[in-house]
Amino acid sequence: MRGPFSISSRLTISLLSSGYVRAVSLPGCQLTGAPQQKTLNNVHTGQLSVPGSPFGLVYASQEDTAFVSLDISLVNSTLGVLNTSTFTPTLINQVPLQAGHTNSEGALGITLTHDGRHVLASAGPGSFVVDVARAVAGSPDAVVGALNGSVGPQMPGVTAIEVTVTLDDEYAFVSQEYGSTQTGNRGDIDVFKLHRPSANGSVSGTAIGYLTLGYEVVGTVLSPDGSILYATSENTARAGTTNVTTLGSLSIIDVETLKTDPSNALVSNVTAGCQPVRNIVSSDGKVVWLTARGSNHLLAFNASKLVSDPDDALLASVEVGTSPVGLTFARNESRILTADSNRFNYTNATTGLSVVDVDAALSGKPAVLGRIPTGLFPREFAASPNGNTILVADNESNEVQVIDVSTLP
Ligand SMILES: *[C@@H]1O[C@H](CO)[C@@H](O)[C@H](O)[C@H]1NC(C)=O
Ligand SMILES: *[C@@H]1O[C@H](CO)[C@@H](O)[C@H](O)[C@H]1NC(C)=O
Ligand SMILES: *[C@@H]1O[C@H](CO)[C@@H](O)[C@H](O)[C@H]1NC(C)=O
Ligand SMILES: *[C@@H]1O[C@H](CO)[C@@H](O)[C@H](O)[C@H]1NC(C)=O
Ligand SMILES: *[C@@H]1O[C@H](CO)[C@@H](O)[C@H](O)[C@H]1NC(C)=O
Ligand SMILES: *[C@@H]1O[C@H](CO)[C@@H](O)[C@H](O)[C@H]1NC(C)=O
Ligand SMILES: *[C@@H]1O[C@H](CO)[C@@H](O)[C@H](O)[C@H]1NC(C)=O
Ligand SMILES: *[C@@H]1O[C@H](CO)[C@@H](O)[C@H](O)[C@H]1NC(C)=O
Ligand SMILES: *[C@@H]1O[C@H](CO)[C@@H](O)[C@H](O)[C@H]1NC(C)=O
Ligand SMILES: *[C@@H]1O[C@H](CO)[C@@H](O)[C@H](O)[C@H]1NC(C)=O
Ligand SMILES: *[C@@H]1O[C@H](CO)[C@@H](O)[C@H](O)[C@H]1NC(C)=O
Repeated sequence: MRGPFSISSRLTISLLSSGYVRAVSLPGCQLTGAPQQKTLNNVHTGQLSVPGSPFGLVYASQEDTAFVSLDISLVNSTLGVLNTSTFTPTLINQVPLQAGHTNSEGALGITLTHDGRHVLASAGPGSFVVDVARAVAGSPDAVVGALNGSVGPQMPGVTAIEVTVTLDDEYAFVSQEYGSTQTGNRGDIDVFKLHRPSANGSVSGTAIGYLTLGYEVVGTVLSPDGSILYATSENTARAGTTNVTTLGSLSIIDVETLKTDPSNALVSNVTAGCQPVRNIVSSDGKVVWLTARGSNHLLAFNASKLVSDPDDALLASVEVGTSPVGLTFARNESRILTADSNRFNYTNATTGLSVVDVDAALSGKPAVLGRIPTGLFPREFAASPNGNTILVADNESNEVQVIDVSTLP
């Protein structure tokens, strides 16, 4: 078997359509602040203060509503409902998420089902299921189910972080950052079969099993055709350590196999810089982008080569701001924004959003157009359905920031 976790930087040769050959090298660990970038002063932004640390964000099917997971206190997480009909949103309701769970980590990653009926919010051992219409109406019965990762003997984790739903809304995949002793403290993906159509509106999930990956499994994203799940593992060292010599990985997972036989669903792994944490896929399915937080870099991989020739899949490596976490496309995928969190408070480092020119990045040209200032620890994004607005969760300054996409360079 190939050695997927080679520590040394490898060279990848990309043959571009323009005909010249370019070498892209995988960045190592750079556990310091990134160089300062030009500040973009003409981007129109706004801020909404929220009563806790925001983490995940997602729009409803319509432009006028979004959701944000909020950590109010150690024992009190809520799903905030935002009215986004005005440029700066307002917080109209909060759905309490603590019932039935001893969650110490709070509510983290959230996602919307493809039919727009439910929001899934990861917390503690699994994910809460929230009915969108009831949440918007402020109804007290908005939590309609919970997917519990720790109850069955086969389900390991209590550190659910992100959740992804298949295109047909039949299955949910929950990343458990630290797994459990059953996974040797490696992270894993928990698989649930969803049962949603019950007459009383309740939703349940049958635990199918799990797939163990590397250490600190966090970001998950589906390919646009729903056939592949991409998942990042921050580390190859023991969970919870900060062993700077080990790089993380991106795992390529076959969704059909994951549904029925999770432990056999891994297709390939590729080394993906230092602490890869969040990932997105272009809408044509051809390029997978991720943030390598400990490298201060945005990386791009050729999706077909991630399966056929992983060691030769790296397409682009762009130095962004300090400790990037979230990332999102903007302006018809001609731009990517990274949430440069500076979560470790490096000396002289700033937080912000790097604005990256996608074509320039893929052609190996200087690609960062500048930095949009943010609050503390910008973490995750949501783009509105019409693409005009982007929301950012500023985790450590308890605010949701809003970006007017038409004012991006
Ligand atoms: C960020 O948010 C998480 C989850 O809401 C919270 O547990 C954590 O304390 C926050 N982190 C920081 C550094 O403020
Ligand atoms: C949780 O926080 C919300 C928002 O601050 C508050 O309305 C609610 O009373 C809190 N619930 C508990 C159980 O502390
Ligand atoms: C959102 O705000 C707009 C403008 O204030 C208002 O007309 C609308 O009813 C609000 N929607 C909800 C669901 O509160
Ligand atoms: C989830 O687990 C909690 C205890 O950890 C339990 O109280 C609750 O009933 C479980 N929910 C479901 C849907 O199994
Ligand atoms: C709703 O229906 C499901 C499936 O029939 C059942 O298991 C559940 O207990 C019901 N929940 C409530 C609150 O009645
Ligand atoms: C860090 O990782 C390297 C390479 O895997 C290993 O040799 C070393 O023992 C690790 N150090 C610690 C402190 O975990
Ligand atoms: C991928 O990485 C995992 C976790 O380290 C390892 O168990 C597995 O053998 C690797 N699989 C492939 C196909 O490279
Ligand atoms: C990915 O690699 C394949 C196979 O070599 C190639 O045909 C395709 O053009 C590459 N895609 C991108 C986006 O570079
Ligand atoms: C995005 O692409 C669509 C379809 O090609 C086009 O109508 C729209 O104007 C574009 N939007 C932006 C912001 O470029
Ligand atoms: C970073 O600095 C902020 C603001 O001074 C502080 O609230 C936070 O606790 C610090 N975080 C870390 C990880 O040191
Ligand atoms: C931080 O910035 C100040 C002002 O530019 C400079 O004097 C100082 O040397 C910097 N500190 C470090 C650790 O880079």
